[in-house]
Amino acid sequence: MTEGLLTAAYIVASILFILSLGGLSHQETARRGNIYGMIGMLIAVFATIWGSQVTSYEVLTVAMIIGAIIGTIVALKVEMTGMPQLVAMLHSFVGLAAVLVGFANYIHMAAATSPLVGAEKVIHEVEIYLGVLIGAITFTGSVIAFGKLQGIVGSRPLLLPGRHILNLGLGIACIWFGVEFINAENLAAGLIPLSIMTAIALVFGVHMVMAIGGADMPVVVSMLNSYSGWAAAAIGFMLGNDLLIITGALVGSSGAILSYIMCRAMNRNFLSVIAGGFGTKAGTASSGGSDDEGKEVVSTTVEETAHLFQDAKSVIIVPGYGMAVAQAQHPVSEITKKLRDKGITVRFGIHPVAGRLPGHMNVLLAEAKVPYDIVLEMDEINDDFPETDVVLVIGANDTVNPAAQDDPNSPIAGMPVLEVWKAKTTIVMKRSMASGYAGVGNPLFFKENTRMLFGDAKASVDGILTNL
Ligand code: TAP
Repeated sequence: MTEGLLTAAYIVASILFILSLGGLSHQETARRGNIYGMIGMLIAVFATIWGSQVTSYEVLTVAMIIGAIIGTIVALKVEMTGMPQLVAMLHSFVGLAAVLVGFANYIHMAAATSPLVGAEKVIHEVEIYLGVLIGAITFTGSVIAFGKLQGIVGSRPLLLPGRHILNLGLGIACIWFGVEFINAENLAAGLIPLSIMTAIALVFGVHMVMAIGGADMPVVVSMLNSYSGWAAAAIGFMLGNDLLIITGALVGSSGAILSYIMCRAMNRNFLSVIAGGFGTKAGTASSGGSDDEGKEVVSTTVEETAHLFQDAKSVIIVPGYGMAVAQAQHPVSEITKKLRDKGITVRFGIHPVAGRLPGHMNVLLAEAKVPYDIVLEMDEINDDFPETDVVLVIGANDTVNPAAQDDPNSPIAGMPVLEVWKAKTTIVMKRSMASGYAGVGNPLFFKENTRMLFGDAKASVDGILTNL
């Protein structure tokens, strides 16, 4: 393929990626956005394969076949609830690739017949150093995020004494070894500071994510998404590949914007989240906070819940992670239709971090064909709870926890929540009195107007449907 054709293909792919991001910002256009992204990636991959930089196809073909087989199996097998872990794992691959490409590029540069000199050499080495640095942090940070989301690593933050000093020390060491790397006379002398910095960055990635509490994981996942983009952009600079630079910058900046949106949704300061330590105050891992000790909850049945619905004029359904686990969205959609046919107003209230990935609940409800116009964001619906007859909380916990407003010592203090307890009756569906992802007790369960409907959400929703 000629250089001109390659550039044209890269421009088309870049435009498709931008259209893809635009499409993904609305539910109605998300499918189209995905298709643009897929076509763009197809063009990008094939244009690169047939570009002049690829000289041998054997290794590339074998690697692509193995990668495609693994990717297909994983994509077919992954549950919707396992998507955040998969995304974290994919981010770690980008980070690892940046580290490996960085080292390979440095060794290749030293062996070149006409090596770079002067400012060009310095700029290229800075690109390599930054690429390896961001890549290594992204790699181990994403592996730990995977472990936390998968439940292999505990969600409680690890707080080493003097952790801020430790982080500062690691940062200063990276700058020091960066100077050593740029000033190195030859390959062997350069590889030493590069390798030491890589080890430091790997440790920093582990420490950074280990220090972050459960409820702040959404910010971390989107932040690692952003890092993986910048790591890809750095690879683009190293390899002189314009498309990687554009794609990396798109992922990096959109991930950064998403992190900012998540921080606002959680009422967190971005830098404080990165510094870690949220979720460390004296929260309880069991059901209630200390004020609820000895209090009893009131249980209800599917029959009673169906009766309450039939007498209601307005209903708000608040789904959470438990709805995704139980795969209850389809019967929920049927209940919605039944109630609306009876003239009852039914709406959905979606917390920005409900579930385990941005837009998790919206995707499930769209899949079950719940009309978009009755699915409202937290800000749009939070004032309407006092005028609502029945609220049905399906497998949500942290996102409806009044302790976020009432208890300044709660690990989730200050996080905006859906004020479901203000409705006339609030039904909470879950299997036990266990806490949610943040590991915090929930006083909602003990409120006078709360009724607990224990059991798997799918079985309970099916039961209500039968009784309607
Ligand atoms: P959670 O607070 O995680 O609570 C989910 C509840 O669902 C649990 O208390 C669980 O109680 C219940 N549940 C689980 N399986 C169930 C089933 N089969 N049937 C019925 N109930 C079931 O959920 P949430 O309110 O959606 O909050 C999300 C949390 O995850 C937040 O802390 C958020 O910060 C965090 N997080 C979010 C994201 C994103 S981007 N959205 C990413 C990572 C982490 P039982 O075990 O008693 O049933």
